[in-house]
Amino acid sequence: MTTTAHQGAGVKAPSFVKNQKLIAWVTDMVALCKPAAVHWCDGSDAEYQQLCQVLVDAGTFKKLNAAKRPNSFLACSDPSDVARVEDRTYICSEHKEHAGPTNNWMAPAEMRQTLQPLFDGCMAGRTMYVVPFSMGPLGSPIAHIGIELSDSAYVAVNMKIMTRMGQAVYQVLGTDGEFVPCVHTVGAPLKAGDKDVSWPCNKTKYIVHYPETREIWSYGSGYGGNALLGKKCFALRIASNMGRDQGWLAEHMLILGVTNPEGQKYHVAAAFPSACGKTNFAMLIPPAGMPGWKVTTIGDDIAWIKPGADGKLRAINPEAGYFGVAPGTNTLTNPNCMASLDKDVIFTNVALTDDGDVWWEGMSEAPAHCIDWQGQDWTPAIAKETGAKAAHPNARFTVAATNNPALDSAWDDPAGVVIDAFIFGGRRSTTVPLVTEARNWVEGVYMAATMGSETTAAAAGQQGVVRRDPFAMLPFAGYNMSDYFQHWLKLGHKLRVNGATLPAIYCVNWFRKGEDGKFVWPGYGENMRVLKWMIDRIEGKAAGQENVFGISPSYGELNWQGLNFTAEQFHTVTHIDKAAWQTELGLHEELFQQLAHHLPAELPATKLAIAHRLGL
Ligand code: OXD
Ligand code: MN
Repeated sequence: MTTTAHQGAGVKAPSFVKNQKLIAWVTDMVALCKPAAVHWCDGSDAEYQQLCQVLVDAGTFKKLNAAKRPNSFLACSDPSDVARVEDRTYICSEHKEHAGPTNNWMAPAEMRQTLQPLFDGCMAGRTMYVVPFSMGPLGSPIAHIGIELSDSAYVAVNMKIMTRMGQAVYQVLGTDGEFVPCVHTVGAPLKAGDKDVSWPCNKTKYIVHYPETREIWSYGSGYGGNALLGKKCFALRIASNMGRDQGWLAEHMLILGVTNPEGQKYHVAAAFPSACGKTNFAMLIPPAGMPGWKVTTIGDDIAWIKPGADGKLRAINPEAGYFGVAPGTNTLTNPNCMASLDKDVIFTNVALTDDGDVWWEGMSEAPAHCIDWQGQDWTPAIAKETGAKAAHPNARFTVAATNNPALDSAWDDPAGVVIDAFIFGGRRSTTVPLVTEARNWVEGVYMAATMGSETTAAAAGQQGVVRRDPFAMLPFAGYNMSDYFQHWLKLGHKLRVNGATLPAIYCVNWFRKGEDGKFVWPGYGENMRVLKWMIDRIEGKAAGQENVFGISPSYGELNWQGLNFTAEQFHTVTHIDKAAWQTELGLHEELFQQLAHHLPAELPATKLAIAHRLGL
């Protein structure tokens, strides 16, 4: 429903909206942002089509060739608005030490003062979309509700795919239910007579979280995690605060189901930094040499995990779609993903082919000609000469989970799935072995806390340098990182004393390189071999062997059927180099110094034990 905005007079909410707190908040935000109209999203397919047409008319969307890619669109962003902006992302807790040294911080009062003039009139000439969404299956005890107010129709249609969005959310919300208020503006008000651009945004950007009052305010960007506020802002930064206060976990983890040939099913949650192949792992197809194994997807990016009454950790995927990195995705690296992209997709910043379809680097043989993500002619010859990419390295697809042929039957189960193992993995060309199992929860927390990864295009800034990325949560933990470690340790302790069997914890690295600078481990579907070893360990079928920081497989413990991978290659990806580990422990120490405030004593103690085992 769209109405003209009448500032100060209260907004006219549709009859299905009964929550007075919500109506009062929207009234206040209309008064502040001064949109020309308010559209209350109902989440229907008809509305989706209507908003896509609005975007086509505005030049934001190009409709793709319906014969090749039915009901799909391409959006190309402003070249200055292509990734999450971590240096413009703030955790505004009352006390600086509650945000911790890894987050940008400003006092809430000061931030509110800074944002007030920016938001005043920020939606002039535009429509404010009221986007009701549930993170997690509607009504699940693990789910939570958010309402995003945005002046971007691109955001509204992406939210329809990425979340359970629409009228039913208001029923769950009822007259007095709680919701996380999320305000988003592209920061480009229009005066009468102004001509709009296809991707409005502002050079000034603020992605702001108030953890105590559980609010999100986003200014100036229309892209991904900066603008789709259910994802990183709510489901990780705000939810990690909720989880700490309420005794659960909000994690940057995919969730998969793995079924062995005997039909026994396990569930694994795995944390990897951005653009390290999470979607590929979540949709893995086991190699031909491992018949009878099956992997199914529950989620590809975020997990909300709550202890059940039985002490077991139950996880849901709070999202309902995938906002995945397109470049590098193809029918060999991820056939399930490619099949998911056959129809009903929003592509952002990929190239447009001459027959009205899409292309990106690594998808297939390059077309002779296409239009690159910046609207320029692109040919392989131009690319060779100038290095121009047809697709931006952080180009994305937005697609509903229900498009995924490997979707797990329990992906939408309000009760969640029981987690049997956690995996933590960074992108490291050296030092970190293919796979190690933590001997206990504390050692697992140490592995996760000290994770490092070479940076990728998912965030603006320098690429390819190793940065510590604890739990793959560096840009997403909404409070002090050391308190976050403590929360994990406390939860493990609580479950253990209550007699629960804790999930096993593994550290993996698919990205180790040989002396020739090439990846040694084939990765992708072959990662199933590592997954099987983990299941074997859980079932007590693999002895493993002790190493300096856990238990690792011998060459003979992995299934090599159908893969020519020699013991020597295995040694290259698994050996622990003493000198490299001495340097590595020095870097762990640097991290611990940075995080000294509230750092749990268990972590330096574990480091000391590793140093002793290394003979240092
Ligand atoms: C993502 C990210 O988009 O981690 O998932 O950056
Ligand atoms: Mn992510």
